[in-house]
Amino acid sequence: MIYTNLKKKFSFCIVAFLLFAVICVWKERKKGSYYDSLKLQAKEFQVWKSLEKLTMRSGSKSVSSGSTQDPHRGSQTLSSPRGPAQAKPQVFQVWDKDSSSKNLIPRLRKIWKNYLNMNKYKVSYKGPGPGVKYSADALRCYLRNRVKVAMVEATDFPFNTSDWKGYLPKENIRTNAGPWHKCAVVSSAGSLKSSQLGQEIDDHDAVLRFNGAPTATFEQDVGTKTTIRLMNSQLVTTEKHFLQDDLYNEGILIVWDPSVYHSDIPKWYQKPDYNFFNKYKSYRELYPSQPFYILRPQVPWELWDILQEISPEEIQPNPPSSGMLGILIMLTLCDQVDVYEFLPSKRKTDVCYYYQKFYDSACTMGAYHPLLYEKNMVKHLNVGTDKDIYLLGKATLPGFRNIRC
Ligand SMILES: *[C@@H]1O[C@H](CO)[C@@H](O)[C@H](O)[C@H]1NC(C)=O
Repeated sequence: MIYTNLKKKFSFCIVAFLLFAVICVWKERKKGSYYDSLKLQAKEFQVWKSLEKLTMRSGSKSVSSGSTQDPHRGSQTLSSPRGPAQAKPQVFQVWDKDSSSKNLIPRLRKIWKNYLNMNKYKVSYKGPGPGVKYSADALRCYLRNRVKVAMVEATDFPFNTSDWKGYLPKENIRTNAGPWHKCAVVSSAGSLKSSQLGQEIDDHDAVLRFNGAPTATFEQDVGTKTTIRLMNSQLVTTEKHFLQDDLYNEGILIVWDPSVYHSDIPKWYQKPDYNFFNKYKSYRELYPSQPFYILRPQVPWELWDILQEISPEEIQPNPPSSGMLGILIMLTLCDQVDVYEFLPSKRKTDVCYYYQKFYDSACTMGAYHPLLYEKNMVKHLNVGTDKDIYLLGKATLPGFRNIRC
C-alpha cells in the first residue's frame, strides 16, 4: 500500500517536472521567435531607409525652392554644413529619351528580336535613318506634315458602295471634335492607381481615353470626362459587351485596325487585322447619333516611319500603340496636350492597367508595340518639367495647330 503510494507520488513528480520543462521550452521558443521578428523588423526598416536615401539621391531630392513641401527638407538643411545657399538643383529620375533595346530585360529583348524576324505586316522601310536627329520643333513640323491624321470617309472605296450606305458619320470629325485649347490623354497604366489626378484631368477641355478604360469607381485617379475614346479593332471585334456596356456610349468613338505596311483602303478592307466591320455596323445601328469614326489605316504606318527614322536602331515592325496614336490625334485637335502616365512617374509599376490586376513589364517597356521608341519621342517632344513627369506622370506637348513650320 505504502509502496504504491510512493510510486504514485513519484510518478506525479515526474509528470509535474515534465510539464514544467515543456512550458519552459515553449516560452523560450516564443521569446526567440519574438526576437527574430524584431530583428526582421529592424532589417526591413533599414532596407526601407536605404531605399528612401536612394530615391532622395536620384529622384525627389528637394533643396532648391522654398515652396516645396518635402518632409526631408528641414532635416537636410539642418544637417547640411554648407546650408541651403549652395544646394544642388533638383534632379528627377525620369524616362531617358535615348533608351534602346539595351535597356530591355532579356525576355523583352528576345521578343523584340522575334518580331523583327517575323515581320508580320511586311514592312519594307526604305526611308532615312535609323538615328536621324531632329530638334523638338523640327520633329513637330515633320509629324504634322507627314502624318495625315484623318478618318475613313463615305467617299472612300468600298465605303461608297451600297453595303455601307449611311453607316459612316456624315460630318468630318473636326465638326464634332475641337479645336480645343487644353487636352488630356489618359493612358490606362497601372501607375494611375492612387494618383489622385482626377480633378486635374477633368480640368481639361477634352479628354481622350483608350479601349475599355473605365472611369466609374476610379474618378479620383482618372477623372470622369471622356470626350474621345480610341479603340483597337481587337476590342471592337472580341469584347462581348461592346454593344451593351454603356461605358462606350459617351463621347466620340474612333476605331483603328492595322493594315499590311502602307496598304491603301481597298487592300486593307480585304485583309484587315481584325474583321470588325460587322460589329461596327451593329453598333452604328444601335447608336446612330453617336459619332463613331474609323481611322485611316495609313495613319499608323505614316507615324511608324518617323519613329523608325529617329530611333537609334531597328524598331518592332508592328504598328504603334493606341497610346501613341491617341497622342497624335489630340496633337491635331488641341493647342496643348497633357499626356498622363505614358512616361512613367514615380508610381511606375508592372501592373498593366489601373482597372485590372495583371502584371507584365511589357506593358511599360513594350513587346508587340515599339513602345520604348514611342516614349523616347514623347520625352523629346515634352516641354513640361521632369518634376511633372516624376510626380504626376505628366508630359506636356504643344499641339500642331499653333506651331510655325
Ligand atoms: C466609289 O469610289 C471608287 C473609287 O473612287 C469609284 O471608282 C466608284 O465609282 C465609286 N462608287 C460609287 C458607287 O460611287
